[in-house]
Amino acid sequence: MTQKVAWITGGSSGIGAATAQRLAKEGWVVAVTGTSPGKIEVLCDKDPKFLKSYPGDVTKPKLMAELVETIEQDLGPIQLALLNAGILVEDGVENFTAATLKKQFDVNVLGVGNCLEPILKKFQDRRYGHIAITASVAGYRGVKGMMSYGATKAALINLAEGLAIETEGSGIKVQVICPGMINTPMTKDLEFPKKFSMEPEAAAEKLVAGLKSRVFEIIFPWHFCLAMKLPALLPHRLYIWLAHKYFRKL
Ligand SMILES: NC(=O)c1ccc[n+]([C@@H]2O[C@H](COP(=O)([O-])OP(=O)(O)OC[C@H]3O[C@@H](n4cnc5c(N)ncnc54)[C@H](OP(=O)(O)O)[C@@H]3O)[C@@H](O)[C@H]2O)c1
Repeated sequence: MTQKVAWITGGSSGIGAATAQRLAKEGWVVAVTGTSPGKIEVLCDKDPKFLKSYPGDVTKPKLMAELVETIEQDLGPIQLALLNAGILVEDGVENFTAATLKKQFDVNVLGVGNCLEPILKKFQDRRYGHIAITASVAGYRGVKGMMSYGATKAALINLAEGLAIETEGSGIKVQVICPGMINTPMTKDLEFPKKFSMEPEAAAEKLVAGLKSRVFEIIFPWHFCLAMKLPALLPHRLYIWLAHKYFRKL
C-alpha cells in the first residue's frame, strides 16, 4: 500500500505545525514547508518517521514547482495539499501603503497560486487529490485594522470557490479553511479577549475533522466564526457603520 502523503505550507509554526503533528499521529507522512529551516527541523525531530522537512519560500514559483517534484520523488504522490502559509501586517488609513498590500498578496495569494499550479497539474493527471486553502473569517467582509490582509483572504475564498466549481466531479476535492482567532505567533500581538480564541492543537483537531468531511468551508472556533459570518450578511451601509463603531481600533 502506498503511504498517505500530505504537503503543508506554513507548517513551521501555529496552525500548520499543529496540523502536521495531528496528521502524523494518523499515519500521514507530512512534508513541511516554511521559510525557516531551523523551526521546521525542530518540528520534524518530534516525529521524524512522519514529519519531513522541505523548507522553501512560497513566493518563488520555480522553487515550489521543484519542491513538489522532490517531495513526490522522496515520499510518493501527494494526496493532500494544505496551502496554509500566510502573513499578517495590520493596516488602516494611518499606515496603509501599497508595499504592505503587495507584500501580503505576494505571500497569501500568489504564494498559494505558486503551489497550486504544480499540484493541480499532478492531481488533474491522476484524477485524484485534495486541496485545502487557509483563508480567514477576515475575508468575509472588510475588517478594521486589517485592510490588506482581509483583501488577501477574500481573494482566497473566491479562488477556492472557483476551483471547487471547476473541479466538481473530477475526483479532486477542494476546501477552504476560515479560522477565527487562534493563538499563534501571527496573533500574539493582537488585542482580543482570549475567551474568543483557540489553541493551535484544538484548531488542528477541528481542521483535520473538517478535512475528512464533505463541507466546503471549515470553520473554528464556531462561535467566533458565527459572530463574523452573521454581520457579513448585513447590507453594506449598515455593516460599514457597525464595523466602524464596534470593531477594535488599531
Ligand atoms: N491565527 C489566526 O487566528 C488565524 C486566523 C485566520 C487565518 N489564519 C491563517 O492561518 C494560516 C497560518 O497562520 P498561523 O496563525 O498559524 O500563523 P503562523 O504561526 O505565523 O504561521 C504562518 C506560517 O506561514 C509560513 N510562511 C510565512 N511566509 C512564508 C513564505 N513566504 N513562504 C513559506 N512559508 C511562509 C511561516 O513559516 P516561516 O516562519 O518558516 O516562514 C509559518 O509556518 C495563515 O494563512 C493565516 O493567515 C490564522
